[in-house]
Amino acid sequence: MTDEIAAEKPQIVIENLVKRFGERTVLDHINMSIDRGETVVVIGGSGAGKSTLVRHLIALERPTSGQILVDGVNMAALDDYELSKIRRRFGMVFQKYALFDSMSVFDNVAFPLREQTKLAEREIKERVMGKLEDLGVGHAAPRMPSEISGGMAKRVGIARALVMEPEILIYDEPTSGLDPVTSRTVDELIEEMRERFGVTSVVITHDMASAFDIADRVAMLVHGKIAVEGTPETVMASDHEAVRRFVHSSAIDPARVSGRTRKSPHEIREMRLARLAAAGTPVI
Ligand SMILES: Nc1ncnc2c1ncn2[C@@H]1O[C@H](COP(=O)(O)OP(=O)(O)OP(=O)(O)O)[C@@H](O)[C@H]1O
Ligand SMILES: [Mg+2]
Repeated sequence: MTDEIAAEKPQIVIENLVKRFGERTVLDHINMSIDRGETVVVIGGSGAGKSTLVRHLIALERPTSGQILVDGVNMAALDDYELSKIRRRFGMVFQKYALFDSMSVFDNVAFPLREQTKLAEREIKERVMGKLEDLGVGHAAPRMPSEISGGMAKRVGIARALVMEPEILIYDEPTSGLDPVTSRTVDELIEEMRERFGVTSVVITHDMASAFDIADRVAMLVHGKIAVEGTPETVMASDHEAVRRFVHSSAIDPARVSGRTRKSPHEIREMRLARLAAAGTPVI
């Protein structure tokens, strides 16, 4: 497949995804496609199924029915070897940071680089410290996870997902528990990953200001179904009752949404191709 074709097809396709836990239907016929370099923000109340949805994208959950295709590959059909290979293209920021308790902050972030690359220790150190410093937690590098605050652990989890510079990043509530200034820093990093590397991002958030700042598209889940999906402007204007309540309770200023300036998908794609050309990496 050439770059042209690969870039024009959606990178992730969710087809008729149904997930039941016992009798309970948590995801109810979800259909969605996500383009390369796009940032999709998923919003919705607690228990709506957001985490379950994104966990399917890297096959941490298996569909009851329906499928997830990544570049046309059905995630549920992969064996363990193929799955571990495809998962390297993803980075995931977990809702509950999931750091290794027995490793220092530095070693937690270095872990994927040591496992999956042949980088020299000097280069690993540079990358790890660079990411920790981007997130304002460089000073925590030698500490153990039990010695840092929840907000710091959150940022370490983000650093660990970003350090591999993956093609697809999934963020499950990256800014929950962070102060407003740190939250904006995280938003900027999400945008920077997209603009520098053409990363595809799926972001779950309860932070409406953040959702509308970073999203190309917003999808709102209500009881396991996508109630509304579209540009931030479309979602802001929706008259769906649950969406109105959710969005308007955040008291976000509509002028802020309509006044955004964004890079076009074309510009993002150009950057991605330039990066790939510079790195000499195949697209798929
Ligand atoms: N492994 C599981 N077994 C049984 N039920 C589960 C499992 N995982 C999730 N659920 C249930 O599925 C529903 C959706 O959960 P999910 O974590 O996806 O919600 P969410 O939208 O991410 O909520 P929150 O905003 O609180 O993180 C919840 O009722 C949850 O209890
Ligand atoms: Mg969740």
